[in-house]
Order: sequence, then structure tokens, then C-alpha cells
Amino acid sequence: MKKESIMILIFGATGDLTRRKLIPSLYHLVRKDLLTNCTPIICVGRKDLSRQEFIDRLNIEKFIEAADPEVLERLLARIEYMRFNVTSDTPEDFTASIANIQERYSCADNKLIYLALPTSAFQRTAELISSLGKGQGWRRMVFEKPFGEDLKSAKELNENIRAVLNESEIYRVDHYLGKQLVQNILTLRFGNEIFSGAWQKRAIDHVQITVSETLGVEKRAGYYDKSGAVRDMVQNHLLQLLSFLAMEPPKDDTPDALRDEAVRVLQRLQPLNSDDVVLGQYGEGTLNGEKVAAYQSEDGVADDSVTETFAAIRVYIENDRWQGVPFYLRTGKRMAKRYAEIRIVFQQRRRYLIGSNGDPNMIIIRIQPDTGIALAFNVQTPHDDYKTESVMMDFCHHCHFGPNTPEAYESILRNVLEGDHSLFPRRDWIEASWEYIDRLYEVAQKPKMYAAGCDGPAEAMKLLKSDGREWLTDENIATAPAIKDFR
Ligand SMILES: NC(=O)c1ccc[n+]([C@@H]2O[C@H](COP(=O)([O-])OP(=O)(O)OC[C@H]3O[C@@H](n4cnc5c(N)ncnc54)[C@H](OP(=O)(O)O)[C@@H]3O)[C@@H](O)[C@H]2O)c1
Repeated sequence: MKKESIMILIFGATGDLTRRKLIPSLYHLVRKDLLTNCTPIICVGRKDLSRQEFIDRLNIEKFIEAADPEVLERLLARIEYMRFNVTSDTPEDFTASIANIQERYSCADNKLIYLALPTSAFQRTAELISSLGKGQGWRRMVFEKPFGEDLKSAKELNENIRAVLNESEIYRVDHYLGKQLVQNILTLRFGNEIFSGAWQKRAIDHVQITVSETLGVEKRAGYYDKSGAVRDMVQNHLLQLLSFLAMEPPKDDTPDALRDEAVRVLQRLQPLNSDDVVLGQYGEGTLNGEKVAAYQSEDGVADDSVTETFAAIRVYIENDRWQGVPFYLRTGKRMAKRYAEIRIVFQQRRRYLIGSNGDPNMIIIRIQPDTGIALAFNVQTPHDDYKTESVMMDFCHHCHFGPNTPEAYESILRNVLEGDHSLFPRRDWIEASWEYIDRLYEVAQKPKMYAAGCDGPAEAMKLLKSDGREWLTDENIATAPAIKDFR
């Protein structure tokens, strides 16, 4: 990576994201010597704090495990805290403070600006940065999710931001795309001939994408109760996974070729019917042996809230590669287990074999935990009863590459520093995803209740049963011992 003199500005620096993800990721970039000495990290917040008070609030011991004191010193030496309220303070004060820091560090005009802010503050902050001018350097502005709450608001936001920034200066974050195993979907598909030929309707029966959380709404009720599982998880992470799994090979290795194909997937999604969508909301239940409260009893949630905490969706893609192949998407809070994985289930044809036909072949992409990729295939048992058994080949990411895989946010920051847009959804993708989500809400029925600690409402099970399939977990692949023992 080319090292450049850069000013890093983080807005919303007193928040959770900065503390938990951004500062630890910057620590690792310093550790890997990827930031020059002329790279101040200016943390902007509304609170009146001294620099030391701000640093104390970062709670570094908690969020950077076993930090190397020398690296930490190099990180902290470049952290500045600036109190500034985008809504009420005058831009001139901001400009003067920035000029002062720029002079002290003798840094170039390049600026990476990270908006760890609510969406409502995006536009004002973009205008403020625009008022600084570009000088001789580049300007890259990173916007956190959620990017809008429906098609109308996403379009407005895009328009307003585009009025002050070029598309090439805009980086819309979906941190799922920073995850190693998500990026590996493309390598698995396009870097391996044994898989790329089979990646289509003549070989694949269906695909299951699950992001299952055990956490409830925690302290995010204010945001979550207005958003729900579909806006919080499906519009961004699950549709991105779908785009990566289903896209055609990009025509070249430029970021825009990849993003062209990602958006084409969304443009070919078949319209949803009401029986393609099941929404759910958790009631009280038991999780890991402990009683947990119902969603409606959580702090900050209305007693009669109809916000969904679960969604299961059957998606079809109308193109030659995928015609007739269902992709089942599922996400929920307060589910039985925490995991994110993709199961690509192959067709099972009757062949003239010695013994039975075995189970369908399957590729399992484990995004978290135990990141890795597994392949289930059939072999004959060594006994004389001619049985076929499904066995597993398993690639464990950290066993092979070691434990220091970059966190998603480190990859994201690194990509912005390199000016690489591959992992950032483009405007047309964002708008196409919201268009689909708006239609989904039009057809969806009221959320069905499910007990906390289970795999979602019974109706979500029926969604697959009606197609003669079922959601696969390690437990219900009863005929495949190798798969059963696998997690
Ligand atoms: N936390 C995560 O893991 C995570 C993951 C994915 C996406 N995100 C997204 O990242 C953004 C920040 O999340 P967070 O968890 O850090 O939230 P948070 O803990 O609530 O912090 C929000 C930050 O924004 C500031 N802020 C709020 N309203 C503002 C306004 N009108 N003008 C200027 N500053 C304002 C707050 O300042 P005060 O301290 O002065 O209130 C605080 O610094 C959100 O868009 C969220 O959806 C977060």
C-alpha cells in the first residue's frame, strides 16, 4: 500500500463505533506501519472534553486486546480531540482549527473523513467538509449505514450529498463486505474452476443465507424500533451477500465492473408475493438457560410495537443462470445460536451407483464464527453393505492463516486509504436495494411471534416446507454424521 500524508477526521468520535471498531482498526494500521507520521487522527465530537478525557473514554484496554505499548504510544500521539457541533457552530471556527492542525503536522491536503454519525447529520457534515475546499489533495468521505430508510429518503440523501461531493469521493459502508469470508465468496467462485462451472441452475438446487443473532435490541431501541430487521440487516448485508453469490463474472478487475454486476442482480429480482416473506418478533423465552424478555418489554420499545426482529424471504432471480433457483434469506434477533453462514445446496440426481445416492453436495461458507469453507460430498463406506455417506472437507481460516485476520473495519479503512471502491455499494445499488425493500414491506404481513431462543416463527419453517425443503442446521442433517459433528 502506498503511504501518503493524510488527515483522518472522525465525526461522531464519542460514540460506540469509534471506540469499538475505528480506533482498534487504526491501531492495527499503525502497528503495520501503514500510516505516515504526518497522519493526525482528528476526533470530532459535540461533548466538551479535554484530549485526555476523550482518550480515557476510548477504553483502550478493553477494545484493543494485549496492545503493544510502543504501538499504542504512536497511535495516541496522533489523536486530537476537537469539540464541534455541526448543527450549531460556525464553519469558520472549524476551518481555522483544521488549518492549525494541518500546519502543526505539516500534512498534505489529503483527507479521509469518517462519518460515524446518525444519517440525519450526514448532509450538514458533507457541506461542512465541502466548505473546506479540496486544496491540492484528495477527499474521501465514508458514510456509515443506514443510508436512508426507504427509496425516497435514500434518493434524497444521495442527491444532497452529490450536490457537494463527486461519486468518486463517496464511500458508503457495508461492513459485511470487509469480512474475509464475504470477500472470499468472489475468490471461491471466480478463482476456482471446479466451482465456477457448477455455479448455476443446472447444478444448484437452492441457496440458504442465514445471519442469526442471539442478542436482543440492547441499547439501540431508539433506532431499531423505527428500523426493524429488514432495514437493519436485509437491505444491506443480506442483499450484498446475495449479490456476491449470484452476480455474473465482472468484465474486468476494476471496482466499477464488480459494482455493475452487483447491481444487475438486484435489478433482476422477481417481484415478491406475500407468501415469499415471513416477518417475526420475539416474545419472552429462554436462551442459554436464562429467561429473556419479549421485544415489547425491552427498554425504549412500545408495548404494542409491530417492528419485526426476524425476517425470512424467498427470492428468485430472473436470468439465465438462476431461473427457478430459490435463494432463502433469513435473519433474526434472540435466535438459538449466533452465526452467519451460507449453504449452497446442490441437486441430487438419481445415478446408477453401487449403494444409495447419499445426500446432496453442499458448500458451506461460514462467515462467523469459525470462519471457513466446507464441502460436503458422498463416498462409499468401507463396509460390505454398500452404503453411501456424506463426508466433509473443511477449510478453517484461522487454522491455515493464523489468528490475526484483519477485522472488517480495518479492511474498510485500508480500502478507503487506497482509494479502492470495490467493497463500497454504489448509488445505484443502494437505490435498487431500497426499491426492493419498499416492495417487500408492501406485501409483508404483520410479524408472527416466536419465543426468544428458537430459530424464528413456525411460518418461516413452512416457507421452505412448501417447497419440499427445510432450513438446514447441523442438527437436522441427520443422515450425514460428518456434517453433524462438524461444528
Ligand atoms: N456501533 C456499531 O457497531 C455500528 C455498526 C454499524 C453501523 N453503525 C452506524 O454508525 C453510526 C454511529 O454509530 P454509534 O454506534 O457510534 O452510535 P452512538 O454510540 O449513538 O454515537 C453517535 C455519535 O454521533 C454523535 N451525534 C449524534 N447526533 C449528532 C448530530 N445531530 N450531530 C453531530 N453528532 C451527532 C454522537 O455525539 P454525542 O456523543 O455528542 O451524542 C456520537 O458521537 C450510526 O449511523 C450507526 O448506525 C454502528
